[in-house]
Amino acid sequence: MKQILITNIKELINIEETPRPFVAGKEMSNLKTLKNAWLLIEGDRIKDFGSMETLPSDLQSRLSDSGIKHYELFDTTSPLHHGTTAPPSPPSPPSPPSPPVPSPQSPVKTFHPLRQYDDLTVIDATNRFVFPSFCDSHTHLVYAGSREIEYVDKIKGFSYEEIAKRGGGILNSAKLLHETSEEELVEQAMDRLNEIISLGTGAVEIKSGYGLTVEDELKMLRVIRKLKELSPLTIVSTFLGAHAIPAGYEGRQTDYVDLVISEMIPQVATEELADFIDVFCDRGFFTVEDTDRILNAGMKYGLRPKIHANELDYSGGIQVGVKHNALSVDHLEYTGDAEIACLLQSATMPVILPGAAFFLNMIHAPARKMIDAGLPVAFASDFNPGSSPTGNMQLILSMACITYRLLPEEAIHATTLNGAYAMGVSDELGSIARGKRANLFITKPISTYEFMPYAYGSNKVDSVILNGEFWMYK
Ligand code: NIG
Ligand code: FE
Repeated sequence: MKQILITNIKELINIEETPRPFVAGKEMSNLKTLKNAWLLIEGDRIKDFGSMETLPSDLQSRLSDSGIKHYELFDTTSPLHHGTTAPPSPPSPPSPPSPPVPSPQSPVKTFHPLRQYDDLTVIDATNRFVFPSFCDSHTHLVYAGSREIEYVDKIKGFSYEEIAKRGGGILNSAKLLHETSEEELVEQAMDRLNEIISLGTGAVEIKSGYGLTVEDELKMLRVIRKLKELSPLTIVSTFLGAHAIPAGYEGRQTDYVDLVISEMIPQVATEELADFIDVFCDRGFFTVEDTDRILNAGMKYGLRPKIHANELDYSGGIQVGVKHNALSVDHLEYTGDAEIACLLQSATMPVILPGAAFFLNMIHAPARKMIDAGLPVAFASDFNPGSSPTGNMQLILSMACITYRLLPEEAIHATTLNGAYAMGVSDELGSIARGKRANLFITKPISTYEFMPYAYGSNKVDSVILNGEFWMYK
């Protein structure tokens, strides 16, 4: 089986000897790392790791084996490259693989492995950090086009709800999506996925919710299924038929909820198109009663909730989510003592979406208060065309620290292990642990792990390994 050995890692971040499903409260600031480390990947799994001083003798003897391909990471163009040590001589790379020949029917752009190796490959990560990939547990990244004109309306001072009432917002995206083919949607989404891979994301949740008819909701979920096949990312899908009241249902909200329950959910379940179910339970959107009915219907088909809650008001969304054992409740700008007390009694992950709060100029979810009360929190991008047109988890990491006052250690947990829990994959992803899937990134040469959130706005990720293979764009 193919192996990759990464040596001389300046610091290996978020290691776990005994994997946990998530970390909460004070534990969030207790980030386990290993300095001057090695990491061995076998197949698509993390096989082992340790300190360079105790590199096992079998690996040591293999290092001197002349048949092994060594690869030094080298990025002269990077402003982050420290000039104090002589840069390594440029690698003599193994012959690059021939790029996959795109089939004429498929216009889809995909990543391809950076280099292919047989047996053992050694990578010298001197001056570099290795992180587990970000796990982005909340996105809407399947969408058509963009909505920058509304962005200007927002600057002029129209609220999210006012824009929605003017026929903009989610309904605007629903119209665009209706007019766009499945193939085109796949192509647009693949570009977004490729971009987030290059920024360090290794797992992502994607919601439907710009369909809002039976046909178009199914179309979106089929697009997500196609993305699962095409992309090396771990992808989970969420059915969000109750994202907005579609055109034609004005004043007949209950009829739309009936449609979601009696037609959409059964078809989504029959075609096995979704892993989770979501409802936008908030003022001006779906009520607690609507949410209760939809979640009950979804649970009959085994769809566990992950819901949009308390973004616009104390909507009761957190409570109804917890009542239905939601895996996560997301947004949470309006979270008070009652909501925190409710979450403390649950297995529900509170997920905060700083991109949306920033873009919409909203109040901020009380993340610090939640952690101090003993709760876990996850941070996700909410990548979508209306309220957070970015999937950059490095930026989310920085916002978690500066805007929400998380320590870098807490923010790293919030964007890796806790994100993984909020999308149901923390047994596989979210930390550096033996047996977990080898989804990780190697940074450019940087000084400390605190530099990751500190240097906001630049890409500190150099190389990405997903499923035990190197990936790069084109
Ligand atoms: O998570 N809050 C509801 N839904 C999305 C916004 C979607 C849109 O405006 O297109 C969100 O922010
Ligand atoms: Fe969202």
